[in-house]
Amino acid sequence: MQKYLLTIIVGLGLTASGGYLLVAKPFSAAQTKQSSVVFNFPEYHHVYIEQKNVDAYLKTGEFPEGTVIVKELVRVLNPTFPDGSRTEPSGRGYFNGAYNGIDMSIKDSTRFAKTNGWGFYTYGHHPLPYAKTSAERPVAECAGCHLANVAKTDMTWIQFYPILRDKDPK
Ligand code: HEC
Repeated sequence: MQKYLLTIIVGLGLTASGGYLLVAKPFSAAQTKQSSVVFNFPEYHHVYIEQKNVDAYLKTGEFPEGTVIVKELVRVLNPTFPDGSRTEPSGRGYFNGAYNGIDMSIKDSTRFAKTNGWGFYTYGHHPLPYAKTSAERPVAECAGCHLANVAKTDMTWIQFYPILRDKDPK
């Protein structure tokens, strides 16, 4: 299955945050579960969506039933500066370090009717190993924030994903 890697997100130091495609600027998007936690280092969020579902979104502005979106959380590689960056031959910046979690969302308008057609799952936000299974997470933990902010773009933060955002049919 071919998948698109949509995003790389950097959360600078404070709470989990985002930026996109190949280390863009950080922005502050705190996630409730993490907002009480102060991270010492940034984290990447890699978002994967199957190509056929990206293509469908680009045509219709909605993801097909059965779309699965996976968000992989990855720590930055051994920071040497207080902002979490380090120097490599390409320059000072952020590089992928250890895996640190997996979140997932699934579109099923019947099953998840109460949360605008999407179910939310997490396999842990911590180093490997992850949980092998996940029950649907409560609205307050996941769907609530997506409902409040991105209900109009099919519960997905397409504004942060150039591949979807810049060709948004709407
Ligand atoms: C406080 C707001 C908030 C909460 C709570 C939240 N998210 Fe998100 N979520 C975001 C933002 C902002 C993004 C955009 C990318 C990023 O910052 O990681 C996102 C992106 C995602 C994505 C990638 C696809 C998309 O929608 O853009 C998945 C999958 C996801 N979240 C799952 C979850 C799960 C599972 C939970 C609960 C464990 C959760 N989210 C809780 C704000 C939130």
